[in-house]
Amino acid sequence: MFFEWLSKQMIHEGISQSILVSGESGAGKTESTKMLMQYLAYMGGRAAAEGRSVEQQVLESNPVLEAFGNAKTVRNNNSSRFGKFVELQFDKRGRISGAAIRTYLLERSRVCQVSDPERNYHCFYLLCAAPPQDVEKYKVGNPRTFHYLNQSNFFELSGVDESEEYLATRRAMDIVGISHDEQDAIFRVVAAILHLGNIEFAKGTETDASEPKDDKSRFHLKIAAELFMCDEKSLEDSMCKRVMVTRDETITKSLDPEAAALSRDALAKIVYSRLFDWIVNKINNSIGQDPDSSLSIGVLDIYGFESFKTNRCLTGMLLFSSFT
Ligand SMILES: Nc1ncnc2c1ncn2[C@@H]1O[C@H](COP(=O)(O)OP(=O)(O)OP(=O)(O)O)[C@@H](O)[C@H]1O
Ligand SMILES: [Mg+2]
Repeated sequence: MFFEWLSKQMIHEGISQSILVSGESGAGKTESTKMLMQYLAYMGGRAAAEGRSVEQQVLESNPVLEAFGNAKTVRNNNSSRFGKFVELQFDKRGRISGAAIRTYLLERSRVCQVSDPERNYHCFYLLCAAPPQDVEKYKVGNPRTFHYLNQSNFFELSGVDESEEYLATRRAMDIVGISHDEQDAIFRVVAAILHLGNIEFAKGTETDASEPKDDKSRFHLKIAAELFMCDEKSLEDSMCKRVMVTRDETITKSLDPEAAALSRDALAKIVYSRLFDWIVNKINNSIGQDPDSSLSIGVLDIYGFESFKTNRCLTGMLLFSSFT
């Protein structure tokens, strides 16, 4: 009823509307947002013969973004680790004519740090459960063998068939306009991050220098470079060395093993968050915005706060720090 009233308000009064979905983690914000979007897509949808691509793409953007931005937490097996604002644009007749998705503050630290009973982002586990030819191609396999995943003892989600989810995510990517080559590149990056995480460092020959610890680490470095399609030595240097550019010169400083491990994690986090932004951008480009639209309904699905009795007043600060 409320949504019906809202869309009528927009069309008859000519006023754009916004809905903020708020609540604790696990309260049902994302599920409600999806139902709301389904309702709006149905109400503002075109007849099948006119082509339903915009609303279909908007709906199918959800499984794609959830695969890369949601993870199991203590409170919720499918917790959003980013904020999402979807703006559905309508033409004068009240039909969906475009959409824009904006995302906020993806939790980067999760990429390289997880603890019981949580998990890393779903996409890592989906890829490990991919059909054999993909597992072979991306050099993945048992999630228990990857440092970025095995810091927690939780790998499976009850009631979820990861291999089916992998295929479903790929189908959703097809619908939102991500080509097969682009999908391949996305999963190469996901796999490369897992291999990056397995590179350990030991003291190098020079003072305060570091190098891959053993053959196992060299193997993962080689695979990561292949998947990133970059030079292996440059990838190693990006973790074991720091380049400082001053006005007059460029100074290269060797890093000790601890600092190299930190720069490996920093690299994994930045690459993952750029990948996420790239996917959002790609979806926006393929859905397309309507420059003539003056009416829109925006829906904001925030990441839920985890409210504990003992740290009520700190929740905001913790929330802020955990997302940086
Ligand atoms: N309307 C619903 N019907 C069926 N199940 C639901 C519904 N709403 C929520 N759930 C269940 O609760 C779980 C958590 O819901 P949801 O992911 O929407 O929470 P959230 O508020 O978005 O949490 P977070 O802030 O962690 O992202 C869902 O995975 C689902 O199992
Ligand atoms: Mg959510």
